[in-house]
Amino acid sequence: MTDHEAGRNKVDDYEVLLSSEQIEKRVKEIAEVISDDYRGKRPLLIGVLKGAVIFLSDLIRFLTIPVEIDFIAVSSYGNATASSGVVRILKDLEQSIQGKDVLIVEDIVDTGLTLNYLVENLGSRHPNSLRVVTLLDKPDRRKVKFEPDYCGFNIPDRFVIGYGLDYGEDYRQLSDLRVLDE
Ligand code: IMP
Ligand code: MG
Repeated sequence: MTDHEAGRNKVDDYEVLLSSEQIEKRVKEIAEVISDDYRGKRPLLIGVLKGAVIFLSDLIRFLTIPVEIDFIAVSSYGNATASSGVVRILKDLEQSIQGKDVLIVEDIVDTGLTLNYLVENLGSRHPNSLRVVTLLDKPDRRKVKFEPDYCGFNIPDRFVIGYGLDYGEDYRQLSDLRVLDE
């Protein structure tokens, strides 16, 4: 019998790395900075599916500027190909981004391969500007040089779940960010 079937809530035992209150406070702060930086503009926020969905929906409600949103989905490379940096677009944008102020919204930067690819790919579509905001950053895990323009928290090299982040599509709905132990 699985924990789920047994009605046990194992999730409660997982260590909370960032509480929903800590996350909300920081998301508000980032939203203030972004609102200042884009004052008078109407940026297009591009959420990277699926992990960034919760962060994007919280972030935009704290912004004090008008925005548009769109979404893109990319494949995650398997371990075997991680070093090759091959990333594939599974769902593309609905619109041209030419001349737009584009802000990519990501849940976490790990090796940096995904965002490295997305910045190159979207950058070639002639946006007016292109920046990246990530809720989380694991700088110790980088395989390619990548610096987000805005970052919520630097975290240690541990696998985290919740607030949109999954393990095998589970746990995205948790309000706190927790550590999934081996
Ligand atoms: P990167 O291309 O290695 O930077 O990978 C980024 C993607 O890997 C993120 O968008 C997440 O989907 C996933 N990822 C990396 N670390 C974690 C984690 O600790 N928990 C859940 N997903 C993660
Ligand atoms: Mg992601």
